[in-house]
Amino acid sequence: MTHATMTKEATEKATEGTLDAAMSGTVHETEAGPRVLMRDSGTSIPLPDRVEMVGLLNQLLADVVDLRLQVKQAHWNVRGIHFQALHELFDDVAGHLPDYADTIAERAGTLGGAAVGTVAEVAGTTRLDAMPTAFLAGTEALSAVRDRLAFVANEARRGVDTAAEFGDEITADVLTEVTRGLDQQLWFVESHLDR
Ligand SMILES: [Fe+2]
Repeated sequence: MTHATMTKEATEKATEGTLDAAMSGTVHETEAGPRVLMRDSGTSIPLPDRVEMVGLLNQLLADVVDLRLQVKQAHWNVRGIHFQALHELFDDVAGHLPDYADTIAERAGTLGGAAVGTVAEVAGTTRLDAMPTAFLAGTEALSAVRDRLAFVANEARRGVDTAAEFGDEITADVLTEVTRGLDQQLWFVESHLDR
């Protein structure tokens, strides 16, 4: 082995080591079930608690990503005399959801976790019932969007309590902000169903 070869091998090994430490992370099981990919973090929250928080955040991320696509589905396919109003309402609601997804995903990152928000992953982890892929009458579309929005808002609210139980007041605060927004969108949708 020449000196040049050894140097090259040593360089490759060092680079590999750096990449392992910097990029790989470690996979952890959560109590709730889903596995999460974690990296080191200087936060004082213990790793087992961060793992649970990242699991919770990724579940909500999947629900919100799915919700946005479902509300868009309603935006595109609602029909009837109130088409214009509902078409615009659903677009407004859908327009807020990427911000919530971003807030949730970046809190997972802050805790040292990998955010999981691809369509392929979300399809397997979302808890929402599928939106019908048909034309939707106004009240049918409103009810479908209302039910799914309410589910996600209430799960985000439940996440506030869970985060507080884990002593992670910042994740509780982040989810409070998300819940406040979801609740407001729910009010806008529900108001159209009032009699
Ligand atoms: Fe549109």
